[in-house]
Amino acid sequence: MSEINDPAIVGHQTPRIDGEDKLTGRATYTTDWQVTGMLHGYPVPATIAHGTLEALELDEARAMPGVVDILHHRHFPELQRSPNSMKHGDQVSEVRLPFEDERIYYHGQYIALVVAETFDQARAAALCVRARYRREHDVRPGLLSGDAEGETVDDYSRGDPDIAFASAPVIHDATYTIAPESHVPLEPHVTLAEWHGSEPRLIVHESTQGIFYERNALARIFDLPAERVEVISHYIGSGFGNKLFMWPHAVATAAAARLLGRPVKTVLPRQQDMMSTGQRPASRQRIRLAADPDGRLMAIHHDSTSETSLVDRHVDACGGATPSAYACDNVATRQRLLAVNHGTPCPMRAPGEVSGIFALESAIDELALELDMDPLALRLRNYADHDPQRDLPWSSKQLDVCLKGAAERFGWAARDPRIGAMRKGDEIIGYGMASATWFAGRQPCEARVEIRADGSLLAACGTQDIGTGTYTIVAQAVAELTGVPVASIDVRLGETSLPAGPLSGGSMTTATALPAVAAATRDALDALQEIAVGPGGHFAGHDRASLEVKEGALVAKGQRAGFAEILARHRLGSVSGKGSAAPGGERRQYSFRSFGAHFVEVRWDPGISRLRVARVVSSIDVGRAVNPLAARNQVEGAIAMGIGMGLLERLEYDPRDARLINANLADYRVPVHADMPDVDVELLDYPDFRFNEFGARGIGEIGLTGIAPAIANAVHHATGKRVRDLPITIETLL
Ligand code: MOS
Repeated sequence: MSEINDPAIVGHQTPRIDGEDKLTGRATYTTDWQVTGMLHGYPVPATIAHGTLEALELDEARAMPGVVDILHHRHFPELQRSPNSMKHGDQVSEVRLPFEDERIYYHGQYIALVVAETFDQARAAALCVRARYRREHDVRPGLLSGDAEGETVDDYSRGDPDIAFASAPVIHDATYTIAPESHVPLEPHVTLAEWHGSEPRLIVHESTQGIFYERNALARIFDLPAERVEVISHYIGSGFGNKLFMWPHAVATAAAARLLGRPVKTVLPRQQDMMSTGQRPASRQRIRLAADPDGRLMAIHHDSTSETSLVDRHVDACGGATPSAYACDNVATRQRLLAVNHGTPCPMRAPGEVSGIFALESAIDELALELDMDPLALRLRNYADHDPQRDLPWSSKQLDVCLKGAAERFGWAARDPRIGAMRKGDEIIGYGMASATWFAGRQPCEARVEIRADGSLLAACGTQDIGTGTYTIVAQAVAELTGVPVASIDVRLGETSLPAGPLSGGSMTTATALPAVAAATRDALDALQEIAVGPGGHFAGHDRASLEVKEGALVAKGQRAGFAEILARHRLGSVSGKGSAAPGGERRQYSFRSFGAHFVEVRWDPGISRLRVARVVSSIDVGRAVNPLAARNQVEGAIAMGIGMGLLERLEYDPRDARLINANLADYRVPVHADMPDVDVELLDYPDFRFNEFGARGIGEIGLTGIAPAIANAVHHATGKRVRDLPITIETLL
């Protein structure tokens, strides 16, 4: 692979090219889209979690001002379910169609969609819809309100853990739980659907992490060729996983628009967004560790159960990172799934692994205490210097650099390991640490790049920028290869009419999109060079290979011609290039992962029962960060989310009837500014050229992994209480 070794732009802090548009309100989020004649949809959620809808009383709602129609299970077109295949690109979050029948599987399931002239009219009428239910009492409450284990859906083992457990001198065995969490993206889910023409085309604006998945799924559901469905998502107020795949509100909205012959926009109110667009499912994990007295791991057992709904099977694979986390010959993991009367869960930032790493990294800390070892030393003793799961070398692994460097910056060596021994004023200080890891993946991708007559460039790729900075890194890649400044590069993303790009998920977008953008840029430069060496060109008769690309110009033997000059001489508006890229054989040679270390200081004030995270020091190894400015933001945001996971966030379901109690931002607590500690993030720079020419493994999810266990470990150090259930609330510490 050719390497970009001496980056002028890639790898340098670059302010977001869309920053000003966002700041000034010019950036049009889906919620902002308006089209002429547009109606507004407002769903009506079921108020029970299990039973049958017996009757809907709609007269009062229908008579409300502005109401155009009310869709429900007796007034809804016949549609077909999406095949829901990841492989064929038509995956959806909830496979059941809206209003498919009268069965109610979860609290918040849509029972109707009111459509009215204005949002307020739709909302007012929706609040007047009355429903009569037949409740069923064999409701299946959440995983954490019982001890049901669920069915096994996956397992893994190497060596013989049972023999190791039988002979090990030191054994740790404990169970950890995590409450369900809500994604709470700033922008709720929203669909604006319009139909055009007699050979109908469906155009959908959606706040989504996956325009092509939504396009393909809508095509299957409405029985249209994929090219007659267009999905557009220019700006997205984040997603964190619950906007990866389509939810039923989009289908209901598109169906309403077709039925009524007018565009319909449905913006989910916050409560419904929290009820019916997924959550990180609750999990229960038992971890058993066997070690020798020197702290060498002899065996790891990791048994997990996560929740799914009664309508879908979403597996939150908690044990995903465990087999490759430590050098250990005997490892077994098992994943179980328990179906409950909650809405379908979905991936949420570092899905599965972040939960598993909480359990594993808490257990490692507990084992260190049992062995009377420094938890950092125990981790280094069991360092996996190759991937023990696949028995392959790592493409690049700097976890040891992360651990040692962050420990140094944090001042870990000054820690007094005795419980509660470190104090300042009324506060007891606790130190804790944990490792972070997340897989590095790549997908196939296509892109197009145009060199235009005014010397500017256009780069287009059908992926999304979910707020992470994709627009900017695409511009950086093009700037790197052409020498044209970032400010002269237009980037278009978020339309299915563009070359097919990846889902914004799994922290894969950077590693997936940039190689395709680079290929398209080179293709466009080739086309320009071809013209320049051709008849009448600035470099007529030159060998194309002798031309260099410099600062937006072609250069050879002291002669220089700007891109714009070349196009002008040949009276061309533009030249364009296409490119594609996909992962190759490197997957068989190396294991690719990102790594990190978090060190956390908590302060516990027993007098006023206040627990806070005071300081976080992190080192993160993601290969090269294409834009360290945005990458650092990603980790800082992930630390905030980790504080939420560790101390605050918990969706509460009533154990009696599985109703969701706190689907609002008053009762579901997320971290606010006052919860934010001093944060010190270091991004290592060890470009991973085995992964792609930019050396970038991508970023986003890695930062969240390891925060919650580092907090739990620090809480133990401060208070002597080992809390194995997230979130850690002050009640458990009293
Ligand atoms: Mo992420 S959970 O793939 O948005």
